[in-house]
Amino acid sequence: MSTRVLVTGGAGYIGSHACKALADAGYEPVTYDNMVNGHEELVKWGPLEVGDILDGERLKEVIDKYDPYACMHFAAFALVGESVEDPAKYYRNNVLGTISLLEALREKGINRLIFSSSAAVYGNPVKIPIPDDHPLSPVNPYGETKRVMESVLRDFGAAYGLKSASLRYFNAAGADPDGESGELHHPETHLIPLVLEVAAGKREYITVFGDDYDTPDGTCVRDYIHVTDLADAHVRALERLDEGNVTTAYNLGNGNGFSVLEVIETARKVTGHPIPTEIGPRRAGDPPVLVADSGRIKEELGWVSVYSELETIIEHAWNFFRRDW
Ligand code: UFG
Repeated sequence: MSTRVLVTGGAGYIGSHACKALADAGYEPVTYDNMVNGHEELVKWGPLEVGDILDGERLKEVIDKYDPYACMHFAAFALVGESVEDPAKYYRNNVLGTISLLEALREKGINRLIFSSSAAVYGNPVKIPIPDDHPLSPVNPYGETKRVMESVLRDFGAAYGLKSASLRYFNAAGADPDGESGELHHPETHLIPLVLEVAAGKREYITVFGDDYDTPDGTCVRDYIHVTDLADAHVRALERLDEGNVTTAYNLGNGNGFSVLEVIETARKVTGHPIPTEIGPRRAGDPPVLVADSGRIKEELGWVSVYSELETIIEHAWNFFRRDW
């Protein structure tokens, strides 16, 4: 059997880290990316094939060329706010695009898939930490596209024998500890990179989106997980699919919640810069607290978070941010 893995979105933030983890584990990642949000400089661990997941013919051409035995599917739009403003873009790419990919894989006899899902499938959780079997009730189109695809994967598993694992990421953060990859979003919307831009003097202050939540310091609490720990989970999930016929989903977080103000304070320590803040209004669609119970992946795959300290996560992000200095 080939050791090649088709990695859609492999030129992006999480996808590129997964390519490194795959290469380190002896696989050959083949990146398939439309380069809308991808970066050629992050494709270092295997070939890059430019193409869109909606383009079934191009997908099949690339599959014929490399003969991958499995697919990791990262290619997606992932901004909650944008998904509310332009749901068509999200359903077209994240749902239609993923179905186009699944059909190409099925036609070519590839029956293993690791899917990037999200904590956004839970909406406003009724239990914290959120267990893997918590009801799915997304509150925005982005989360809905992920929930829909998890259902499609289950049905394709039952009908066509597709083996899949959906990984529900909490807040992916940090960068490759060796500095070989990191976060390069344009425009940037995520808290940690924005805070680092302030530390670097590229922005004057960071706006805290609301300080009147029902949380210890009034700001939102999130579960930040190092992108290298996420990448490792993908390889483990793939190896599990090699063993049996499964459709499954796993939470992926550290199980520790940090408030927006705690993140900013930790970034001050790591960078040694003051990082001025301004309190702004709440951002629509932000649940007050999202913290994972990642019990299932720990138990079934022996996954552990290696870089669980927020300080380490921010330090690695900072090192990547300053790489050209
Ligand atoms: N925040 C600020 N100021 C900013 C940016 C963010 O206060 O300038 C706050 C947000 O309100 C939130 C926290 O920082 O409370 C983290 O925000 P991010 O935008 O970094 O991340 P999200 O929690 O909104 O989003 C993440 C993923 C999404 C996923 C979502 C699930 O990036 O893809 O979790 O709810 F959908």
